Amino acid sequence: MAAHPRIAVYPGTFDPLTNGHVDIIERGLALFDRIIVAILENSGKHPLFTVAERVGIIREVFADKPIVEVETFGGLLVDYVRSRRAHVIVRGLRTVSDFDYERQMALMNRHLSSDIETVFMMPSEQYAYVSSTLIKDIAALGGSLAGLVPPVVDARLARRREAATTRRA
Ligand code: PNS
Repeated sequence: MAAHPRIAVYPGTFDPLTNGHVDIIERGLALFDRIIVAILENSGKHPLFTVAERVGIIREVFADKPIVEVETFGGLLVDYVRSRRAHVIVRGLRTVSDFDYERQMALMNRHLSSDIETVFMMPSEQYAYVSSTLIKDIAALGGSLAGLVPPVVDARLARRREAATTRRA
């Protein structure tokens, strides 16, 4: 490892982790010595999975990749990034419609902390249309998620759907 390890923080809600996220993390493995997947604690988005569940899922998926760490954070992202002695924020960029939001966040984060750089990475084309929101909709309606999420996420969503169906019966 280099004298100054290249540490990247990959922040997000990850509710749930998709194969698009996995693709970004795997691409990051070639660029960074450590990737810290950082789950926002209070997103105000009424998440489907608890923060602890999301941490558990991501740890399970990357159990064989010790350079991928999973943590949670609250408050300002730049403060958290600094606390981890990192200088890079990784964000995935799928479509043009992602761009405005991502640009605004990257420039605001740079305004708040000019020594932290945001690096955008493109997922493989096959994940350009995959989002956690769509995944939850498809899961709730019983559609197939094959190839879109890791098997552990597919299984957890199926369990949720079964529980919801049983409750309604
Ligand atoms: O996956 P998401 O929901 O698009 O991730 C958004 C996230 C967590 C990266 C963003 O909401 C964030 O950084 N929140 C922390 C609060 C913060 O620092 N806000 C100012 C950044 S412009």
